[in-house]
Amino acid sequence: MSLNELETYRDAALEALEAVDSGEALEAWYRSHLAPSGQATAWKKQIGRQAAEDRRAFGQTVNAVSQALQAAFAAQKERIRLVELADRMKAEAMDVTLPGRPRPQRGLHPVTAMLREVCEVFEGMGFTVFESPHVELDETNFQLLNIPEHHPAREMQDTFYVNVPDQGERPPKAVMRTHTSPGQIRAMRAFGPGPIRVVLPGRCYRNEDITPRSEIQFHQVEGLLIGERVRMSDLKGALLLFARRVFGEDQAVRLRGSYFPFTEPSVEVDIQCTLCCGEGCRLCKSTGWLELLGAGVVHPNVLRNGGYDPDKVRGFAFGLGIERLVMLRYGISDIRHFAENDVRFLAQFA
Ligand code: DAH
Repeated sequence: MSLNELETYRDAALEALEAVDSGEALEAWYRSHLAPSGQATAWKKQIGRQAAEDRRAFGQTVNAVSQALQAAFAAQKERIRLVELADRMKAEAMDVTLPGRPRPQRGLHPVTAMLREVCEVFEGMGFTVFESPHVELDETNFQLLNIPEHHPAREMQDTFYVNVPDQGERPPKAVMRTHTSPGQIRAMRAFGPGPIRVVLPGRCYRNEDITPRSEIQFHQVEGLLIGERVRMSDLKGALLLFARRVFGEDQAVRLRGSYFPFTEPSVEVDIQCTLCCGEGCRLCKSTGWLELLGAGVVHPNVLRNGGYDPDKVRGFAFGLGIERLVMLRYGISDIRHFAENDVRFLAQFA
C-alpha cells in the first residue's frame, strides 16, 4: 500500500462525510470508516505488515488520516445535531404571542356561601357542624318532634313521601325531610347524654307550589344547644350575635311569641328591616321588621325522645332559612332563581 493510496482514501472519505446530511447517514459513514470493521481501522492493521524501513512513515500517516477523519466526524456530527434541532423547533413551533383563552369566573353558589358563613359564625361560638339525612323517617321528621300523626302542623309541611323497600315487615314511612329539625333528634342520640352545641345545615323539601316566595327545595341551618343551665336569654344572646355578624354590628333583633310543637316557649326572631332601618317600607310591609327564624326552648317531650332527662337538662333550638337570608342581603325578590341554574343570576356572585 502506498502513501498515495492512503491520501486518496482520506480525500474520498472526507468528501463522503461532507455529503452526509442526516443522523442515519452519519452512522452509516461511521460504520464504514471509523468503526472496528471500518476502512480506517483496516489501514491501521496494515501497519505491522509494512517493510521495516517504511513502517514508521506509514504508521504516522495512517494515524494522521485516522485523526483527521475523527475530527471531521465530530464536527459533522455537531452540525447535523444543530440542523436537526432547528428542524424540530420549526416543526414544533408554537406561537407564544397568541392571546390566552379567558376562563369563566367561578364562585360558590350564594346559598352554599351563606350556609358556610352561617356555620362559621356559630362555629365561632363553639358550635360543631353535624349533618343528618335528607331522607328521613316520618317518625324523626314529625313524631319525635312532638308532631303526631294528625297534628295540624303537618299541614304546613306537606312533603314527598319515599317508598321504602319491603323487608318482610311493614316498612317504615319515609319522607324527604321538611326541615332540619329531625337532626336535633339524631344529634341528641349521637352525642347524648352530654351537653350539645351543634348546627345542622342542609337542604329541605316540601310539596309546595313553586312561586316567587316558595320552592319545593330550600336550605336551613338548625341550631341545638343542650346543657344544665340553658335559658331563653342564652338563645337571645346567641341570635343577636349571629344577626350582628351577618348584617352589621348595629343590627337590632326582636323576639316575638310564637308556636312550634317542638319548643316551649317558642319565638319568632325578627331583624330590624335592612332596607328602611325600621322606618317602614315595601320590603317589611311597613312594619319595620323582617321575620328571620323560628326558635325556642326545647320541649321536654323532644328532650325525652332524644334520650335526655328534661328534669336535668334544658336546651334551646332554632331553625333559619338560608334562601331568605341571601334574599335579604342582596335584595333578591324571587326564590326561584336559586334552583334555576341561570348563569346570568349566578355570575353576579362569582
Ligand atoms: N323547623 C321549623 C320550620 O322549618 C323552624 C324551627 C322553629 C326550628 C323553631 C327550630 C325551632 O329549631 O326551635 O319551620
